Amino acid sequence: MNNYYITTPIYYVNDSPHIGHAYTSIACDVMARFMRLSGYNVYFLTGTDEHGQKIAKSAEVKNIEPQIYTDKISESFRDLSPMLNLSNDDFIRTTEERHKESALALWNKLLKNGYIYLDNYSGWYSVRDEAFYVEKDLIDGKAPTGADVEWLEESSYFFSLSKFQDKLLEFYAQNPNFIEPESRLKEVINFVKSGLNDLSISRTSFQWGIKTPSDPKHVMYVWLDALTNYISALGYPDANSELYKNFWPANIHMVGKDILRFHAIYWPAFLMAADIPLPKKIVAHGWWTIEGEKMSKSLGNVIAPKDLVDQYGVDQTRYFLMREVPFGQDGNFSTESMKNRINSELANNIGNLAQRTLAFIYKNANASVPNIDVNKLYQESLLEHLDSKIKTYIKSMESQKFNQALDIAIDIANEANAFIDNEAPWSLRKTNITRMEEVLYCLCESLRYIAIILTPFMPKSMDKLLDQLNVSKENRELKHLNQENALKINSPLPAPQGIFPRV
Ligand code: MSP
Repeated sequence: MNNYYITTPIYYVNDSPHIGHAYTSIACDVMARFMRLSGYNVYFLTGTDEHGQKIAKSAEVKNIEPQIYTDKISESFRDLSPMLNLSNDDFIRTTEERHKESALALWNKLLKNGYIYLDNYSGWYSVRDEAFYVEKDLIDGKAPTGADVEWLEESSYFFSLSKFQDKLLEFYAQNPNFIEPESRLKEVINFVKSGLNDLSISRTSFQWGIKTPSDPKHVMYVWLDALTNYISALGYPDANSELYKNFWPANIHMVGKDILRFHAIYWPAFLMAADIPLPKKIVAHGWWTIEGEKMSKSLGNVIAPKDLVDQYGVDQTRYFLMREVPFGQDGNFSTESMKNRINSELANNIGNLAQRTLAFIYKNANASVPNIDVNKLYQESLLEHLDSKIKTYIKSMESQKFNQALDIAIDIANEANAFIDNEAPWSLRKTNITRMEEVLYCLCESLRYIAIILTPFMPKSMDKLLDQLNVSKENRELKHLNQENALKINSPLPAPQGIFPRV
């Protein structure tokens, strides 16, 4: 079986989860579920990033020991999995022993290979970004992200990042799909071309981090520590670890655009320096604003995933976030748009199609899949294009064009709704029972397609729909989307229940 490894960024535990975090995790989950439906052996990792000055400061402000503080907030990220129905296989915390061992091993490897040296750092640092900046980066005395910076002068170990400038450029040239979307690849290339300085990879002015093997007064720079999670969770440095053997290199690191640089420049350089294969792809998504404004605590407009799930439902939340904005672009969250999409696309279109079809069959057509000649039906206008639609769907999913993939499902539902109106099975019932049964069969078969392709996005509701169509659990993969696996005639159908209530 083909293996597939996908990761979310690990989340800072300085604050509770909001929809920005939920977004990255849901996108990964949709991808993970899609790959499983495609027959892959998937490993999906998420977790929390718990060291560094930012977390130390948050704990200090709250007057709590950092470990106790991170234990608590980390749980709120772990809780996202049941809340958002995330199918992650593991949840890694950087304060776990298994992770620390791995980070130390990576450090030792970089040291052994001659890429770490001791010097003094003097320059700007942003605690919010956990990033170093040089003078020319600053805009009006702040980081380009708008974060405050402070001046640092401290003894520090350095990583010889500058030695990797040409190697990185060569790598991007040879792997043009390494960074997506393409516009972001260009950004990264320009940044690397403008010159890479060696990177400070240890700090001495606070203690909340992994003590470096070179000197316990130095704690590891939080990004070197954090990036290692992607291999520590697989058991690195144990080259015999089954997980490591099966799943490294990762297929996709999904990240927000704000942290692309760390993943597309630092991480590949660390890996090259340690003779470890590079991940296959880094995909950067955009940022959400809330009702047109930046999401921030001071504006008081931060949305917790739980609020959306409680109000609209988990599948509706997942659907909206994947549907509203083309993946890669920035987007805006508005309550109005959320309600509109739930009502028009889920309740009135897909939900209504299911309800009117299945309720009609339950009442008027023996409560079972109609008994018709299936071979003949696959030439019906409604079914004949399904094959090419599924191909487009798969292509869209494979390139993370989630909203386009959703278009396909909506498109099938639109056509099916028009078909039911034109064919009017309620009239056929009096005039032509055979045709009525054909029409109903086509509608059920369309619903089966819709339900399977929407499963990665809305697993609970689509499972319910597939149950209502009496599709067995083993027959719900993409490979079952063909005539051979069409609905079995005469199989009994239960009393339908609505799947998408209006809001
Ligand atoms: N800890 C680092 C990642 C280390 S990975 C080795 C980090 N954590 S974070 O909690 O600040 O952000 C995690 C993810 O949430 C990032 O991908 C970021 O882009 C995403 N988002 C945070 N706010 C967001 C929005 N407003 N909109 C969309 N995504 C946003 O960075």
